[in-house]
Amino acid sequence: MPDLSLLPPSAAIDGSDLRIGGCSLTQIAAEFGTPAFVFDEQALRDRARAFADGLASRHPRSRVCFATKSFPSASMIAILASEGLGFDVVGEGELRIALAGGADPATIVMHGNAKSDRDIAAALDAGIGYIVVDGFDDIDRIERLATRPTPVLLRVSPGIESKTHLALATGGKSAKFGVPVEQVPEALARMHAAPMIEMRGLHAHIGSQILSLEQFEAEVEALASLGTFDVYDLGGGLGVRYETADVAPDIDHYLERLTAAAREHLGDSPELIIEPGRSLVAPAGLTLYRVLTLKQAGKLHVATDGGMGDNLEYPLYGQRFQPMVVGRFDEPEVLADLVGRHCESGDIVTPDVELRNPQVGDLVVVPVTGAYCFTMVNNYNGALRPPVIYCSGGLARLGVRREHPDELLAREMKIQPG
Ligand SMILES: Cc1ncc(COP(=O)(O)O)c(C=O)c1O
Repeated sequence: MPDLSLLPPSAAIDGSDLRIGGCSLTQIAAEFGTPAFVFDEQALRDRARAFADGLASRHPRSRVCFATKSFPSASMIAILASEGLGFDVVGEGELRIALAGGADPATIVMHGNAKSDRDIAAALDAGIGYIVVDGFDDIDRIERLATRPTPVLLRVSPGIESKTHLALATGGKSAKFGVPVEQVPEALARMHAAPMIEMRGLHAHIGSQILSLEQFEAEVEALASLGTFDVYDLGGGLGVRYETADVAPDIDHYLERLTAAAREHLGDSPELIIEPGRSLVAPAGLTLYRVLTLKQAGKLHVATDGGMGDNLEYPLYGQRFQPMVVGRFDEPEVLADLVGRHCESGDIVTPDVELRNPQVGDLVVVPVTGAYCFTMVNNYNGALRPPVIYCSGGLARLGVRREHPDELLAREMKIQPG
């Protein structure tokens, strides 16, 4: 029996097919084409509830704000809003996506290390829950643009060098995010003297794909050392399993340790906010590709119809995946690089991976692509941005359609030669 543990819980083998949420991936590929992002909608809802109920039952004055950056689609916002989640957004663009998905503005937190006047104005205009002040210029901007006192949090860089990929660590001493601990007193003084700023609490986010819970406990302790506040936003960052050998804490375990640390160091009364992204959506999603070509050149290259256009995790962070060839579940394994169709040697989905006898025309599933892949989709080599499909109870619903070739030219101004 193949190991399906990286796929969403509804994954089931059906002869030579694989089903997600009761839907055949072979039929999904036929109807919507490949590459495609496919979600188990019930798994998404279950994970959202595990976060929301798990946090509320342990710390009633709390809110789970989905990190929109990890899957910035109104379709995703709509599903998670219906489960009672709030949202964190970076800038005006993500705010628009969240509002289009039906997010209640009061549940939205906006952060960003370099906010423009437009970002702040959009947040003020929508009346969101909190703007996260990331530095002194944010204080000036809010003071200049707000017409009434605005609830804000102060993002602090707690000096925690998290054990994750360098590009995913955000809370270290030289991070571009937040105010370094030694500058917090000055920032607080400036905020207290600013009539348009209603200082409510602290925010920190130490990084992403963090697998050791001690780091979150250290974050809570670091924030507690900065004074007593009414709100603490602890950010996101919980890691997930990408390969079967990986070990990651589950949502409940994470919440248990986080809230215990909060109880010990911050007390029961402050509002606690968390901002999960990857750990909420990554394991509920997968990418469906079709194999376009095989080439033996030093090693076997199995090339799909996607790649860097829809998944930059390996090129950017070295994140490996464990793909499966649909329908060849019992066939012999070969060692190959699963690569894309883009014109670059770095266009690799995962190198040196065991694939079961892949052939041209086969469907390949890459599990755990529900976070940060859709985020960074692009048109490299004129690739069309893929659709997003939500599967539940045997029904496949299109959340985002595939881009049309005409859209590749939609912004061109038709300048005439000469
Ligand atoms: C401020 C902030 N909050 C939340 C998140 C979500 O993190 P993750 O997807 O690791 O849960 C991020 C992403 O790095 C972030 O920058």
